[in-house]
Amino acid sequence: MTNVINNIIKITNTNSEAETAAEGEELGRTLSPGAVVALYGDLGAGKTAFTRGLAIGLGIEMPVSSPTFTIVNEYPGDIPLFHFDMYRLENESELFDIGWDDYLERGGVCAIEWSEKVPGAFPPDTIKVRLESCGENVRTITIKSSNH
Ligand SMILES: Nc1ncnc2c1ncn2[C@@H]1O[C@H](COP(=O)(O)OP(=O)(O)OP(=O)(O)O)[C@@H](O)[C@H]1O
Ligand SMILES: [Mg+2]
Repeated sequence: MTNVINNIIKITNTNSEAETAAEGEELGRTLSPGAVVALYGDLGAGKTAFTRGLAIGLGIEMPVSSPTFTIVNEYPGDIPLFHFDMYRLENESELFDIGWDDYLERGGVCAIEWSEKVPGAFPPDTIKVRLESCGENVRTITIKSSNH
């Protein structure tokens, strides 16, 4: 039997897009090569804003934009960022077509928008970030890690 214990690292409210990006930046500064960050939350919750900050925290200078039409955008750096948007995926088997397993092995950080679409894709030590809208400019961000 596998025991997976989810530890909440942080719960915080943000009041602007910039504050959400700052939360992403703080997390990004702590990540090692191979880290997987699964993002959950509705349209406009702030997943891309958070990832923009994550990239800054990794030291990536290229500005992050939404990969909605490409599924994955790659940003080179000391630790590269692979930024996925699974919104358009029809089913999990399409992960094979985009080379998901290779991305996990490439020594970058993977950040995944619409992780709800691919619940079976994630390694056990994935960091889970949920963004919830609680008003026009307020977002609650919950960051969890798993120990197994
Ligand atoms: N506290 C906040 N944090 C993040 N974004 C906020 C906040 N308050 C307002 N916003 C607005 O919400 C929107 C968030 O957009 P963003 O593209 O990051 O969302 P998303 O979760 O990636 O959406 P999608 O599912 O379409 O990819 C932006 O327009 C931003 O200005
Ligand atoms: Mg987005």
